[in-house]
Amino acid sequence: MNDTITRIHAREVLDSRGTPTVEVEVHCADGSMGRAIVPSGASTGKHEAAELRDGDAKRYGGKGVRRAVQNVLTEIAPKLIGRSASDQGGIDRMMIDLDGTPNKSRLGANAILGVSLGVARVSASIQSSPLWHYLSNLAAGAWQTWLNLQDEVGRPLGRIIPPRDTPSLPLPMVNLISGGLHAGGNLDFQDFLFLPIGSRSYSEALEMTVEVYRTLGSVLKQHGFEGVLVGDEGGYGPKMPENDRAIEMILAAFAKTGLNAGKDAAIALDVASTHFYHDGRYHLRDAGGESLSSEEMAELLGSWANAYPILSIEDGLAEDDWAGWKILTSMLGKKIQLIGDDLFVTNPERLKRGIAEGVANAVLVKVNQIGTLTETLEVLRIAREAGYRTVISARSGETEDSTIADLAVGTGAGQIKIGSVARSERLAKYNQLLRIEEQMGSDAKFAGWTRVS
Ligand code: PGA
Ligand code: ZN
Repeated sequence: MNDTITRIHAREVLDSRGTPTVEVEVHCADGSMGRAIVPSGASTGKHEAAELRDGDAKRYGGKGVRRAVQNVLTEIAPKLIGRSASDQGGIDRMMIDLDGTPNKSRLGANAILGVSLGVARVSASIQSSPLWHYLSNLAAGAWQTWLNLQDEVGRPLGRIIPPRDTPSLPLPMVNLISGGLHAGGNLDFQDFLFLPIGSRSYSEALEMTVEVYRTLGSVLKQHGFEGVLVGDEGGYGPKMPENDRAIEMILAAFAKTGLNAGKDAAIALDVASTHFYHDGRYHLRDAGGESLSSEEMAELLGSWANAYPILSIEDGLAEDDWAGWKILTSMLGKKIQLIGDDLFVTNPERLKRGIAEGVANAVLVKVNQIGTLTETLEVLRIAREAGYRTVISARSGETEDSTIADLAVGTGAGQIKIGSVARSERLAKYNQLLRIEEQMGSDAKFAGWTRVS
């Protein structure tokens, strides 16, 4: 068969922070090759799949990935040679079993994900299919199998809320101002993002975003924030002590761009609150050195959502503060999008728990948090079945690999969060979405923004 895997190669390359990461190449009998590079986070959740690093302080401060590369070459490759690259589910399950740990810590989620994505890429290329199209078939196949499952008396087990449009181009959620672990701890909150809710197409959304981003640069300058540098994801990283100051600057940029806040343009936050949650309290510098209880933190976010055109809040509460999350969700879940990132870590079991407990109403989906494409599709399926929104997301450590752009389109995820419109590891994805929009031509559907209530 043409799509028989004949060789798998892996190497250590560098990500956008100059930190080593795993690149994998999967070769098939017809001469095709699929290449993928694994991303890496900085504000990682405790429950993420494990990234295997060498720990040898003599190289890259212990962050080398030679062991993960070796695991691809000596453990995974021999098991996959001779298999069909179109068997994504079988290959991913085989790697999960071969690893044998609950969090992929033996072989490394970075080793496993590189192979998983490389396999999808080579298989798409053998079928002469654009990756987004290939992934849309793969997702549809996985969801169809689920829909066909029956319980012992023949009742269907599966139920999927029909996708609005699959495949479709996602609404970008774009980083404007960075704080927290991504910008030297200047602000408590990690990301202040732009939602181009009034845009009618992906390319229009992108154009609007660049205009807002540029205008914000000059607004910051006007307000005395000189020499503003950009953070890990390309967002501005001004030395700004108060979180609401960042919001004011963004609102000024909306006004200067001629955008109507709340109608054309809205704000999203990634609070990434796990990183200032200690001993059961939220330690915000902004609260005048006071720490806040979960209820107080939820109330603070609620007051922000009332005062400003904020339509989405990610990780408003910490990764294991389930009780706090319930309070936050009952307070705001009917009004705005509440995304679980560190909370769910793209993990089917944690997402199921959230759905059962009525926590959050959306999930951030990062392929390297779980480590295989198949499990990523499973998380998207579970979310869709429960009516949870989905946002495909990059990591703060990224590369030229643009697979997540195709994944967002192919699965009709609705939204994508890549970072800002600066730094080429971000633009690699934005530009891939432009290519896909062009490829789809008049069939291109754009998810746009839909109100939560
Ligand atoms: P990370 O940040 O990649 O550093 O985890 C992204 C996010 O928190 O959404
Ligand atoms: Zn996050």
